[in-house]
Amino acid sequence: MRSILDIPDLSLEELDALMDRAEDIIARPDDYAEACRRKKLATLFFEPSTRTRLSFEAAMYELGGRVITVAGADASSAAKGESVADTVKTVSCYADIIAMRHPKEGAARVAAMNATVPVINAGDGGHSHPTQTLADLLTIRREKGRFSGLTVGLCGDLKFGRTVHSLISALSRYEGVRFVLISPEELKVPSYVKNESLKKKRIPYTQETDLESVIGDLDILYMTRVQRERFFNEEDYLRLKDSYILTPEKLKRARKDLCVMHPLPRVNEISVAVDQDPRACYFKQVLNGKFMREALILMLLGLG
Ligand code: NCD
Repeated sequence: MRSILDIPDLSLEELDALMDRAEDIIARPDDYAEACRRKKLATLFFEPSTRTRLSFEAAMYELGGRVITVAGADASSAAKGESVADTVKTVSCYADIIAMRHPKEGAARVAAMNATVPVINAGDGGHSHPTQTLADLLTIRREKGRFSGLTVGLCGDLKFGRTVHSLISALSRYEGVRFVLISPEELKVPSYVKNESLKKKRIPYTQETDLESVIGDLDILYMTRVQRERFFNEEDYLRLKDSYILTPEKLKRARKDLCVMHPLPRVNEISVAVDQDPRACYFKQVLNGKFMREALILMLLGLG
């Protein structure tokens, strides 16, 4: 029984196989319509979510499976003081696989140690979010046809942004990827992420504070929301929240084949006028996330 808590839990070959499987699901959805018949997915979300929870649930329905869920942190016995360990021991009695989101870093690992069914980390605090990365990888592969040699700009809250940490971990495995890390001083990539991915693998990267001066160098621009819920005080959030706003004007300096990404939800980071630009890929990411979650569920249930 195997859980997916972070990107290193998947080998490079498995990442490629998941993308191939997602492509096959896109091409032949009917072949998968009964694949998870009589299987149940439990979604346990102790933090807000729209895309991640609904895409897991939609993925399970597309595979012919069923879904059980608790509607939010306040609706489960966590509100009565139940531990994550006890909750997942319980849910393991009802479901064949669990997708869990929790505000505490490491909560998914605690869940996996206590569950008797596979656990998928759907986001643990400011740490990691591996299934968003699966959506991001498929989007990049579909848009660019490759990973090697890409210059990837990550912009915004690189400190608390768990999608950024997981994406760096994944892309660091491909040949010749280069990162441009664009953030305010206070919101730089944490040193553990730099040490484990960038420095260890000698990946070239630069740290910048200005988006406009580097936008023209990028193949991918991954915008992120400033993670208000992880700040210790509101003043800092208010000061930093609008550090970067991508507009059609700023995109004039960018390459014609730039791919603009965002894990969503968007607050102010990308003006809605950018949505009309053919370089905007963030709603494609949303759809790709569902297919990759289907592929992952199949793999973990031993049905892929
Ligand atoms: C992200 C998350 O939850 O970390 N959202 C998502 O799952 N697509 C990004 C965010 O909340 O800013």
